[in-house]
Amino acid sequence: MDRADCLDLDRLDPLAVLRDQFKLEEGLVYLDGNSLGAMPRVTPRRVAELVEREWGRGLIRSWTDAGWLEAPQRLGDKVARLIGAAPGEVTIADSTTVNLHKLIGAGLDLRPGRRVILTEKGTFPNDMYAAGGVVAQLPGTELRVVDRDDLPAALEQEDVAVLLLTHVDYLTGYIHDAAALTEAAHASGVVTLWDLSHSAGAVPVDLGAWGADLATGCTYKYLCGGPGSPAYLYVAAHLQDEARSPLRGWFGHAEPFGFAAEYEPAPGVRRFLAGTPPMLALAGLECALDLWLEVDLGAARRKSMALTDLFIELVQARSPRAEVLSPRDSERRGSQVSLRHAGAEGAMQAMADRGVVGDFRPPDVMRFGFAALYTRFADVWDAVDVLVDVIGAGG
Ligand SMILES: Cc1ncc(COP(=O)(O)O)c(C=O)c1O
Repeated sequence: MDRADCLDLDRLDPLAVLRDQFKLEEGLVYLDGNSLGAMPRVTPRRVAELVEREWGRGLIRSWTDAGWLEAPQRLGDKVARLIGAAPGEVTIADSTTVNLHKLIGAGLDLRPGRRVILTEKGTFPNDMYAAGGVVAQLPGTELRVVDRDDLPAALEQEDVAVLLLTHVDYLTGYIHDAAALTEAAHASGVVTLWDLSHSAGAVPVDLGAWGADLATGCTYKYLCGGPGSPAYLYVAAHLQDEARSPLRGWFGHAEPFGFAAEYEPAPGVRRFLAGTPPMLALAGLECALDLWLEVDLGAARRKSMALTDLFIELVQARSPRAEVLSPRDSERRGSQVSLRHAGAEGAMQAMADRGVVGDFRPPDVMRFGFAALYTRFADVWDAVDVLVDVIGAGG
């Protein structure tokens, strides 16, 4: 394999045409789409149009005339098509972190008499902060953290209410067997809550087939919604009448503009909204979702597996000094490859100085994301070239 072979792979890639739909500087090898996705070229125009026309001229009328009020549900239904959910099961609101607070609270509430939120060691620390925050507010509840291999046994304990897991591990890219874990959780009466931040747009997600209960995830990573674009929130249809958000607000009220003194949750997933939807951010996100809805998700997954396989193969052949932390089996690996290297932080900086952008996760992990819509096989070659220069060849 050499660079010419990579260029051949790019020529044969059915998704190669999509790269042009993103703004990416020539000469930049961008392998950080798992943190902040690239910008679709249509986004600035659409956001400017919303600002000028819908806000500037339409003003308050745009809540109804420009479809602003329905935006969370409209975009939610678009995300639903990407994560195997049905229409009406997904809304767009707040950040993933805020949604975790809502859904952990809702999950505990769905299982009165049980008091434990179960998660695995090494999960994204943010998610433990959120779970810990809920526990601090609800006396008697507990966050239980176990090794990954001990999850099935831990699920059998009768005090567990909610299983909270990140479907694709942020550090290594390991993919949980969500269908099997959901089945085990349900066999013990446990509600599942999936953080899909590194999943949507990266690996197949089929919430309906998994039988998933609750889920949320970021839209600014692989989905390319823009910095801080609001998160999606999923509640399975059969739980929607029962599930309650602990963060109440008027947009989650049955009649937001009825101004009733009493709170009455809206029917459906809309009850998980709290405050006013962020229209500028939603406009950017909708551009990205419309682009995604044109993509063959199976082809995107196949390309992401091929890109990450190639990266691992080249790293092992040319710079075995870097230990591959991610699963070798592409079926169990997200759209990223993480390497362990003693000088990881300095190496990532040196690579960035040479135009290869990935990211560093303490203490010693170099993380590279391979977004299928705009990463080329030649980028993989060039990134490994620079990596070899920076950390050296040889074992
Ligand atoms: C797995 C995971 N969950 C949650 C978050 C936090 O999302 P937000 O900042 O939208 O709350 C991130 C951000 O990187 C993440 O990787």
